[in-house]
Amino acid sequence: MSASSNRGAPGILVVDDEAGIRASLKGVLSDEGYRVIEAADAETALGVLDEESPDLILLDVLLPGMDGVAFLAQLKGKGVDTPVIMMSGHATIDTAVKATRLGAYDFLEKPLEPQRLTLSIHNALEAQSLRQENVDLQTRVKSTSVMIGDSEPMRMLYRQIAKAAPSTGRVLIMGESGTGKELVARAIHDNSNRSDGPFIKVNCAAIPRDLIESELFGHEKGAFTGADRQRRGRFELAHMGTILLDEIGDMSLETQAKLLRVLEENEIERVGGGQPISIDVRMISATNKDLKKEIEDGNFRDDLYYRVSVIPISVPPLRKRRKDIPALARHLLDMYSQEDEALAKTLMPGAIARLQQMDWPGNVRQLRNAIERLVIMTEDAEIGAEHIAELQDEAISSAPCAKSLRTAVESYEKDLIVQALESAGWNVAEAARALNTDRANLHRKMRRYGVEKPKG
Ligand SMILES: Nc1ncnc2c1ncn2[C@@H]1O[C@H](COP(=O)(O)OP(=O)(O)OP(=O)(O)O)[C@@H](O)[C@H]1O
Ligand SMILES: [Mg+2]
Repeated sequence: MSASSNRGAPGILVVDDEAGIRASLKGVLSDEGYRVIEAADAETALGVLDEESPDLILLDVLLPGMDGVAFLAQLKGKGVDTPVIMMSGHATIDTAVKATRLGAYDFLEKPLEPQRLTLSIHNALEAQSLRQENVDLQTRVKSTSVMIGDSEPMRMLYRQIAKAAPSTGRVLIMGESGTGKELVARAIHDNSNRSDGPFIKVNCAAIPRDLIESELFGHEKGAFTGADRQRRGRFELAHMGTILLDEIGDMSLETQAKLLRVLEENEIERVGGGQPISIDVRMISATNKDLKKEIEDGNFRDDLYYRVSVIPISVPPLRKRRKDIPALARHLLDMYSQEDEALAKTLMPGAIARLQQMDWPGNVRQLRNAIERLVIMTEDAEIGAEHIAELQDEAISSAPCAKSLRTAVESYEKDLIVQALESAGWNVAEAARALNTDRANLHRKMRRYGVEKPKG
């Protein structure tokens, strides 16, 4: 479906050979705020579909020439995913079954009851917009996992990924914050023979210490206060796939000991459970700490280090590959403009030159946030060097207390977003309504705060 269907009133194509029925449907549907397009037969309807993309098709079964069921079959054959509601005055169970099998959303008997009709249309459109949202999300996941950069350090990184992916060796990804370690982990999974299996990420730094073992290995009912149900851990969920232990340098020594046992035996034990469960999981870890130093300081086990770092990969900081900054900046800019056309802007050469000179201690994530800010704050369609200068001034003048206020506000905002999504059953459109914002903005914030629907 084209994006134009989201704008203005939803369009409904009514295919019926009786002018009287078309006219009365048009009356009812226009009153409900829909835009109605009419066609007297299937051939005319096909012509309409070449020209525009209605949001829904109301289709009579008995038509002169090609009948409704054949027309539906042809649409589905072409991969048209517009929802279709069939209507018939002589509905036989046989045709109803056929139409449903072909993917008709609903089958209504004539004479049509306006209430039943509008309810069915409402539901069909709602279901379609949910589906569309899922597709959007998936494409976004794919497009955000694209890695940009053809500088020499990046080319070396690609070669390392290509080498590591097909093997089963445990990979340790090292690099400063925001350099793209998670992207590298995903790329390794996507290019491995486990790409059809799950990719499960655990952020070891974000999970409270007393919960991490249950998170990783699961628990049996009654294992501890609050464990009112049995729960599978992330290792079990990653079976036949890949697990990413992010920020592994933040894992407690106690958990490290348990992890070591899992790696030696390829078996896990749920907390409070006796039976070992064998698992087939490829492990990737990531850290922005210097693990060798952590070993010296007694914070990280050296035996674990050798087990997790069979294939070490370093992700270069952005300041060591300034050549990639223009392409990255344009890619990020495109990403934001795709979300919201109103945000489509151009980066002028002067602006790019300035971006390239900056140091980016927060690496690609910092560049991403800067571009997002520029896109939202710049009123002109062209982003010039002067806008970047403003950005720099702001970064310098943001005193520690101002920063902590911002952090506090952001964490409050993130909590609100998660709450709204949870009460909307992770329906983004609904949550956006509850938060009084639009979907594109909510998606942007979700990505910024790393808010994702929990898996499983
Ligand atoms: N080469 C790249 N091309 C495009 N986008 C990138 C690239 N590297 C990083 N990014 C983007 O930058 C952001 C940060 O990347 P990522 O989360 O992978 O970093 P990280 O190294 O895991 O950071 P942290 O240590 O803070 O967890 C993400 O939005 C990611 O999509
Ligand atoms: Mg990360």
